Amino acid sequence: QSKETLDALSAYEWLTKLYHHLLRHTKEGKEGYQYLKDRGFTDDVIDTFQLGYSPNSKDFIVEFLEKKGFHRQSMVKAGILSSNEDNVVTDRFRGRVIFPIRNHLGKTIGFGGRTITDQKPKYLNSPESELFQKGKLLYNFDLARKSIRKKQEAVLFEGQMDVISAHKAGVMNGIATLGTALTDMQAKLLRRYVDTVIICYDPDNAGFLASFKAAKLLKQVGCAVKVATLPNGLDPDDYIKTYGADRFHHEVIEASDTYMTFMMKYLKKDYNLKLEGDRIQYVENVIDEIALIERPIEREHYLKELANEFELSIETLTQEVRSRNEKIG
Ligand code: UTP
Ligand code: MN
Ligand code: MN
Ligand code: MN
Ligand code: MN
Repeated sequence: QSKETLDALSAYEWLTKLYHHLLRHTKEGKEGYQYLKDRGFTDDVIDTFQLGYSPNSKDFIVEFLEKKGFHRQSMVKAGILSSNEDNVVTDRFRGRVIFPIRNHLGKTIGFGGRTITDQKPKYLNSPESELFQKGKLLYNFDLARKSIRKKQEAVLFEGQMDVISAHKAGVMNGIATLGTALTDMQAKLLRRYVDTVIICYDPDNAGFLASFKAAKLLKQVGCAVKVATLPNGLDPDDYIKTYGADRFHHEVIEASDTYMTFMMKYLKKDYNLKLEGDRIQYVENVIDEIALIERPIEREHYLKELANEFELSIETLTQEVRSRNEKIG
């Protein structure tokens, strides 16, 4: 690792401690602390995830880093401090609650900062750098790894709030993609640890589309995929707050759909199944998916389901699957 990277790691470590200390023990951090308390965070959880607060001051953090021996310009270069048009150097996270983003070794390599006053953007992230590459990391992987291994299962969320809420509710194998689409690299990383990934994204259009894409990608790398369904308008964090941990376990995580059931539901969105043409296209689409299933029993199970729903013969459908697989070879 280069000198720059080592410096950045060290600065991140100091800042993680400082932000956390300010939140927990000082009046400068009170607003941030209150915000988290209002959202149901306990001190325990705040400590486990090293949550913090950056005071609304122009130079507090800048001066702190300088006192620790870090040069202003190298901190800007590393993306840790920001510099505006007039070359004024500040902490981009000031006035925000801080979520340290840790690598698989538990070292902070970036921050996510959430506004507590409806500023835009809602979450501000450290800029991409040699150290911080969102597409390569999974939030909370370091803490979740043990549980992921043991269960051979991971629960994939959109963001920090959901992971932390789930952790509090006893779901210790939660990780997140921090609002961006799952990448091939993240999928492969997961595959090294688990058989099954349960996708638990937000129940809105963006979330459904992201679930669909993530499901396909995880399938491609050989994971068994399940998709959790949440009632409209409640993301996992909201759900846990509204209905409690117990129902989250039983009615969301354990009740998640298999990949095929999710697909069959999801693909319906694009069609008006009252129309004959749409019905045929939908069935064709689902058969494409079924043709990819390797286990014959599983394949037959879904073929039967499809045959029943659309009053088609299982022979015809089986024939369709066969012809598709011949084409693929
Ligand atoms: P959401 O909009 O679903 O936020 O974005 P959330 O996780 O429910 O957070 P709260 O409950 O409103 O506080 C999902 C994830 O996308 C990333 C964050 O990682 C967030 O957790 N995101 C969202 C950003 O990076 N920037 C944004 O402006 C918004
Ligand atoms: Mn502490
Ligand atoms: Mn969302
Ligand atoms: Mn959300
Ligand atoms: Mn939320």
